[in-house]
Amino acid sequence: MRWLDALPIDDALSGADYSAVELSHDNDRVWMLEQRGLPSEERYAELLTAQQVADGIRDMVVRGAPAIGISAAYGMVLAAHGAAGDTREFLDSTQRAADALVRARPTAVNLAWAVDLMLARCRSIAELPAPERVERLAGLARRIHREDVEACRRMGRIGAERVPDGAVILTHCNAGALATGGYGTALGVVRAARDAGKRVRVLADETRPYLQGVRLTAWELHRDGIEVEVIADNMAAQCFQRGMIDLVVVGSDRIARSGDVANKIGTYGVACLARMHDRPFYVAAPWSTVDMACPSGQAIPIEERQSKELTVIAGQDFAPQGVKARYPAFDVTPASLVTAIFTERGEVSPVTEGAMVAMDAAGSS
Ligand code: MRU
Repeated sequence: MRWLDALPIDDALSGADYSAVELSHDNDRVWMLEQRGLPSEERYAELLTAQQVADGIRDMVVRGAPAIGISAAYGMVLAAHGAAGDTREFLDSTQRAADALVRARPTAVNLAWAVDLMLARCRSIAELPAPERVERLAGLARRIHREDVEACRRMGRIGAERVPDGAVILTHCNAGALATGGYGTALGVVRAARDAGKRVRVLADETRPYLQGVRLTAWELHRDGIEVEVIADNMAAQCFQRGMIDLVVVGSDRIARSGDVANKIGTYGVACLARMHDRPFYVAAPWSTVDMACPSGQAIPIEERQSKELTVIAGQDFAPQGVKARYPAFDVTPASLVTAIFTERGEVSPVTEGAMVAMDAAGSS
């Protein structure tokens, strides 16, 4: 695999000078920002096959629900590019790629959502000549990417209305440009508030064990000139108690029909603290994160990652030999703890199944 120091294009769909993932103009390669290396090293993996994209998703080169959905869509383009001209072979190899991509990570519904869209398109264009098939799939994948950035900007403006001037905002994990097509969901709300002329300051939970907060949220906000201060996850309670936090905004990997929200492990604890201290707890997510077929949080599949990702720090295993460790990567915050969900369709508040159903119907009419 080739590594690049920078994106080799100057018209990234992210709208920034960096991007979690991009497709080459020739539709034959995908560039993925190696997020595990941030902030010390900024480099891009150049991927040529759908399997490499699936590996990159599984191994967290790219992460964040919308970003892995977009990556999977681009992976499907690579599968079409590598498939022979024959219709049967095209359908078989794109199906194999879809299976590998969806298996990569189970919680973020954006992944299956994007792959399903791409597979449906594969079926409808299977009879076309091979180059035209690739062109059509690339067009759809880029549309998914563009629409995600637009959705982030829109939900950001909607959410920013709830952010008072001078607010201190707590966020957990990274729900920023790095986790989306660009701009970010939770951090999109922060950016939109700043762009509306409000003074905002962010407290970023470190987010053990992958450290998305200290490495990624701090990196992109600092780069954007937004004031950010990192705290260890176990400091949030005291910050609430001392009145240092005005509101919370986080992203999500899957929102059930009931309004229950799956997000990075630790989010539920933050929501409990926000309720205890009478502070609003907001979620920002595109509608592609909503899974209306999933009745409640109990039905959301929670990814269990390898325990060594928890116990091994900088190459050293800190757990005594023979001691087990657990690493559920996500938790579920019940709808009753969520003040509002900001989406590109509008704000869901109060968060009830009825309100989710109404917003779903409004979007499909
Ligand atoms: O394991 P990760 O880093 O993929 O988890 C990401 C999160 O939990 C984000 O908060 C979520 O995907 C929302 S991204 C806009």
